[in-house]
Amino acid sequence: MSIDHRPIAVFDSGLGGLTVVRALRERLPSESLIYFGDTARVPYGSKSAEAVTRFTREIFHFLLRFEPKSIVVACNTASAVAVPELADEFDVPVVGTVEPGAAAAAEAADGGLVAILATEATIASNQYRNAINRCNPRIPVVQKACPLFVPLVEEGREDRDPVVRLAVAEYLEAVRRLRPAVAVLGCTHYPILRGAIAEYLGEGVVLIDTADATSAAVADLLDRAGALSPDGARGRLFCYVSDNTQRFQSLSTRFLGRTITDVVRICPEEFAILQPPEPAHARLRVSV
Ligand code: DGL
Repeated sequence: MSIDHRPIAVFDSGLGGLTVVRALRERLPSESLIYFGDTARVPYGSKSAEAVTRFTREIFHFLLRFEPKSIVVACNTASAVAVPELADEFDVPVVGTVEPGAAAAAEAADGGLVAILATEATIASNQYRNAINRCNPRIPVVQKACPLFVPLVEEGREDRDPVVRLAVAEYLEAVRRLRPAVAVLGCTHYPILRGAIAEYLGEGVVLIDTADATSAAVADLLDRAGALSPDGARGRLFCYVSDNTQRFQSLSTRFLGRTITDVVRICPEEFAILQPPEPAHARLRVSV
């Protein structure tokens, strides 16, 4: 069996993608991860597809400097609007959240209704709906944008917070009446509100955590390619953000379950003038 020591690059519009990092670290503890959070330009969910695709392309170029074995687009919005256009443009396997999340939802639905909960841009792209229909064209799909969930999570609000409960009820009342079999948490931040969403939708609704489904798809891809790191290796996490390292550090605990102590700031304007690191990730600072 071959072994591949290169890191996996993970990208998100901000810090929500740490839910995917968490899932990857649980599933693939031997893998080193390079994380880039575009905290200067978050949120992507209310931006145009054109802007999100441009940002994603820039970040792919930055991440390629680390010679990753794969780029994981943890951001559901970028996965929905940019990955279909960019995946073939780069010579590296790209894993987004949409295909794994849709496949998990189609499997769990067993023909029942699937509710997609995501940002406005993700919903407008129809990518989740299309991907579920490719798995099984007979599965009915309803879509609902829940834009307030992201700022509520970033503000540190918890499942039991009355404002969270109000927002959940406001967005999901019509969805609940349709009695979905499955609800897809199609945004990096939504797993943090899982308790409130599950309670409101009621028992019997299967919640699909796209972070978990994505990490399973990455593990499968690397396994099939013979590109896993050796068992027992200590995977490291190197974090970069485009703004506000302190905020990233203080909120990271919520998403990752542990605090990140060392984060490097790099502005998108600097991407073009940066010299490529050499050799690959070896000179970077360890963050966790
Ligand atoms: N990361 C985004 C997503 O998963 C949510 C935050 C944003 O709007 O940028 O869709």
